[in-house]
Amino acid sequence: MALRNIREMGDRVLEKTCRPITEMTPKLVDLINDMLETMYEANGVGLAAPQVGILKRIVVIDVDPEEVNPYIMINPEILEVSEETQTGEEGCLSVPGKSGVVTRPMRVKAKALNINMEPYEIEGEGLLARAICHELDHLDGVLYVSKVEGELHEAGMPEDFEEVDA
Ligand code: NI
Repeated sequence: MALRNIREMGDRVLEKTCRPITEMTPKLVDLINDMLETMYEANGVGLAAPQVGILKRIVVIDVDPEEVNPYIMINPEILEVSEETQTGEEGCLSVPGKSGVVTRPMRVKAKALNINMEPYEIEGEGLLARAICHELDHLDGVLYVSKVEGELHEAGMPEDFEEVDA
């Protein structure tokens, strides 16, 4: 495993649409392991492949600060979103030191393939729902800054649970 360089806003790779995965390969397994290592090293709760310069539909998410229990989502798709929304601070590892207020669905249901290319569904609420929406946006070249209400501002204390980087 190795740390990958996290691309930052302004890098055009973050504005592209990613391609689906058709088969798992040793190279992709390495990529996924590197994405996990890179996400944990950066204290992020999620990371999408384009953030490390790879235009493929892969995201990793782990919103649990207590234990390592990541979701690996390949070719993810949102199936349902709640009408109820949440409005709160959001950040991104590709936009270091900044955060902004974004409204997201309170709950989302999504489907994806796991690392064995087996389909599964995931239902997320609160921070997990926010992370799923944020990471899936990355696969279509969308950064959260385009959804910020008001101004992007300096990020607060990193231990602030409401202010997490994905
Ligand atoms: Ni992000």
